[in-house]
Amino acid sequence: MKVMIVGATGTIGSAVVDLLSSDHEIIRVGHKDGDHQVDLGSQDSIAELFEDVGPVDAVVSTAGAAAFRPFSELDDADYDLALSNKLMGQINLVRVGRGYVSEGGSITLTSGMLAQHPMPGSVAISLANGALESFTKAAALETGDALRVNTVSPVFVKETMAMMGMDPEPGTSAADTAKAYKVAVEGDANGATLHVRDYV
Ligand SMILES: NC(=O)c1ccc[n+]([C@@H]2O[C@H](COP(=O)([O-])OP(=O)(O)OC[C@H]3O[C@@H](n4cnc5c(N)ncnc54)[C@H](OP(=O)(O)O)[C@@H]3O)[C@@H](O)[C@H]2O)c1
Repeated sequence: MKVMIVGATGTIGSAVVDLLSSDHEIIRVGHKDGDHQVDLGSQDSIAELFEDVGPVDAVVSTAGAAAFRPFSELDDADYDLALSNKLMGQINLVRVGRGYVSEGGSITLTSGMLAQHPMPGSVAISLANGALESFTKAAALETGDALRVNTVSPVFVKETMAMMGMDPEPGTSAADTAKAYKVAVEGDANGATLHVRDYV
């Protein structure tokens, strides 16, 4: 399959590239790096990306930015980032991308465990994650067998925790996280949220 990975240069995305590249042709998309660049915050940029890349069999998004800040400190810019980048950026990948994904192909988005398990500081992220999972369930009702739409929900990634100076022990490695994306791309799930720990 020809698989376009948006966020391919990141912690999770690079592990998904490693896992899928033996069986599939991978197009690596980043914001600044990668084979192609896109800004999820711009629908025009997403449209240009698909125009440049052309038809694909699957799209995986391992991108999406949102601020982690206490509720009392979240300002309009923080909400705007979560809504325009993590939420609508990924939704726009589906809205634009559906015209480029082959019949029976798939688009896989990324939410996160903070949808079901919020913590202080996660309001903006939890908002986007929960909305992505509801979007996925509803959109798949209408795209049917022609286009499978799923969301992968990662837990805290060991490499990210280490980067933040935390003990990585309770986390899941990026390599293990990538396994849920492989199931989403190669399996028959549709409208589902794939919780990473179910696939490790
Ligand atoms: N890591 C975790 O512990 C964890 C846990 C739960 C959920 N998640 C979710 O998983 C996703 C990936 O996380 P990660 O830790 O792998 O992120 P990351 O290491 O920061 O990588 C982010 C990726 O997104 C790209 N990117 C940045 N800004 C972008 C933009 N405006 N438009 C398009 N692409 C952009 C980056 O490209 P460049 O390299 O070119 O800048 C990079 O490829 C995010 O949605 C995150 O919320 C992560």
